[in-house]
Amino acid sequence: MAQVLQATLPPLPYAYNALEPYISEEIMVLHHTKHHQTYVNALNAAEAAYAKANTPKERIALQAALKFNGGGHINHSLFWKNLAPSAAANKGNGGVLRDGPLKKAIEEAFGSLDNLKQQFNATTAGIQGSGWGWLGVNPTTKRLEITTTANQDPLLTHIPIIGVDIWEHAFYLQYKNVKADYLSAIWNVINFEEAEARYNEAISGSKL
Ligand SMILES: [Fe+2]
Repeated sequence: MAQVLQATLPPLPYAYNALEPYISEEIMVLHHTKHHQTYVNALNAAEAAYAKANTPKERIALQAALKFNGGGHINHSLFWKNLAPSAAANKGNGGVLRDGPLKKAIEEAFGSLDNLKQQFNATTAGIQGSGWGWLGVNPTTKRLEITTTANQDPLLTHIPIIGVDIWEHAFYLQYKNVKADYLSAIWNVINFEEAEARYNEAISGSKL
């Protein structure tokens, strides 16, 4: 029987209230300790069942659960690191894109950071139901592109640089039905230093 590696909930790299006023403490506590924890638990249950499955049919029956919960775990683990306490709230460096390779690539692909935000928000606002908005590196052209995935599908077509959770659980307690306000606010807590580290790794070829 294959050894199953247990997934675990990664700790947040900041306090639950650190992203205020843009993302409330209440959202962060529920999102991390309830939603993400549930994906972790369900992924471990599906992995354990898969390891015990004796037939192709049993293993095929587990594919949807593995994809949904495995994607949920991967996406949220990335999302927490994508965020940082905001410079606009004098709490950290969130929202600040410094001169460097990522800023240069954003300007090449979109003209400016403001244009990227506008295009990203317009594209992700169009997601029907739940999903994720992404800034990713196209592995063929090595250029930055905006794309989306449905449900908890992880980004497989691009190397993820920034991912934004567009599920209602990510914003509803604070922004209600106004997804556009959430999308505007999130840029104040985007961790561009983490994004640049991801970008540099992607371009260096180690994940292409
Ligand atoms: Fe989420």
